[in-house]
Amino acid sequence: MSTDSQTPDRPAPRRKLFIKTYGCQMNVYDSKRMADVLAPQGFDTTDTPDNADLVILNTCHIREKAAEKVFSDLGRLRPFKEKAKSKGGDVMIAVAGCVAQAEGAEISARAPFVDIVLGPQTYHRLPELVARANRVQQKSNGRKTAVIDTEFPAEPKFDYLPAPRADGPAAFLSVQEGCDKFCTFCVVPYTRGAEFSRPVADVLREARGLVAGGAREITLLGQNVNAYHGETGDHSTWTLGRLIRALAEIEGLARIRYTTSHPRDMDDDLIAAHGDVPQLMPFLHLPVQSGSDKILAEMNRNHTRDDYRRIVDRLREGRADLALSSDFIVGFPGETDADFRATMDLVRDIGFVQSYSFKYSKRPGTPAAAMKGQVPDDVSTARLGELQAELDRQLRSFNAACVGKTMDVLLTNPGRHAGQMGGRSPYLQAVHVDAPASLLGHIVPVRITTLESYSLGADLLDAKAA
Ligand code: 5AD
Ligand code: SF4
Repeated sequence: MSTDSQTPDRPAPRRKLFIKTYGCQMNVYDSKRMADVLAPQGFDTTDTPDNADLVILNTCHIREKAAEKVFSDLGRLRPFKEKAKSKGGDVMIAVAGCVAQAEGAEISARAPFVDIVLGPQTYHRLPELVARANRVQQKSNGRKTAVIDTEFPAEPKFDYLPAPRADGPAAFLSVQEGCDKFCTFCVVPYTRGAEFSRPVADVLREARGLVAGGAREITLLGQNVNAYHGETGDHSTWTLGRLIRALAEIEGLARIRYTTSHPRDMDDDLIAAHGDVPQLMPFLHLPVQSGSDKILAEMNRNHTRDDYRRIVDRLREGRADLALSSDFIVGFPGETDADFRATMDLVRDIGFVQSYSFKYSKRPGTPAAAMKGQVPDDVSTARLGELQAELDRQLRSFNAACVGKTMDVLLTNPGRHAGQMGGRSPYLQAVHVDAPASLLGHIVPVRITTLESYSLGADLLDAKAA
């Protein structure tokens, strides 16, 4: 493989890039941006590592299982490298994302064949890292160390990335990164760093570009997206509510969502926006983690169960049909049966759709890892089973209640057979509609007719209305 950097007067040779993404939406967004930054270097993305010149694993460190998966996948990549070398070539392997940030040195020790280790804040430097790794390779006759860049640089990477292209009617836009909340179980404040908000003008410019490229729906992303406090040109700051109101003015942008948020940052203006801004979709992912005040305090969540309840009530006052989703952790240190019952009560009381629930995973360096009262695995497993059964029941009953209703669906992709399109409802449900491919990117009125296991089937009501 030749990974020499491009000269201005010669077009870069075409090379293949395979990116595997683990974890959250933010990583999905970051992977796209890594592909964008490498495209001018001659890299075209491919969906298999088989013939790739560069493989990037964009990793997640949030739970132990996610982190260990990276090492087992690296083990599987090794033969690709050996095979390429036996043919006189090479495949460059890069580990990016949060495992790279947290365990850079360990990656080099456990997988010495890895060429590049880069954290989530340095991927704008990828072209330079690839060129450096290539020089190391050429000099070292096979024995080498990885090029590691896990800095938290002063320059925000967004200033160095090419403008993203919309690749479909539903786009993501990262507006905020990092977290200063320090929940006691969580590695994010350590791997993603301190909270940072992109300036308002950058966000608006990127949103307009996405809409011009065909996006009808934009999901604003951030580890703590509702902590957004972006600077304006006159050095005042805007909160997320204000930003959403400004985005709603963009002609052609029909739908706005945001994720992931923290109950502490649901301020009055953001809550009001759910009632006032029709483009803001009636679906909100608002992690609560536990329904027990004692556990919430031990988690350093800085809110009680009643605070959460009140936020939900106020949101529903403005938007009665708001569907809620959440994250839950069971088996946090010190969680008793009574604490778990409190979580189950909260779940039944609020009613969620599409939630995520996890067994507590001990993460090195976090305060909870050293707490007394670690819960035995079989207890956590039983609690998780019970919680997931209830969440699944709620999801199914929510979907079942939609049958017979009419709603608007954004058609985002071809369906499972000719004449069918896939799309998403305002509540983020997957919907299959019998509709021509020419309606891709349109928002069409449909009647929900059937309930499939985790999606809905629908009939198009009036194609002309699209
Ligand atoms: N163990 C289990 N789940 C965790 N999460 C974060 N850290 C841990 C951990 N140590 C979950 C939280 C968070 C979601 C992204 O991942 O529920 O909201
Ligand atoms: Fe982690 Fe808590 Fe920050 Fe969410 S708010 S990223 S759970 S520390």
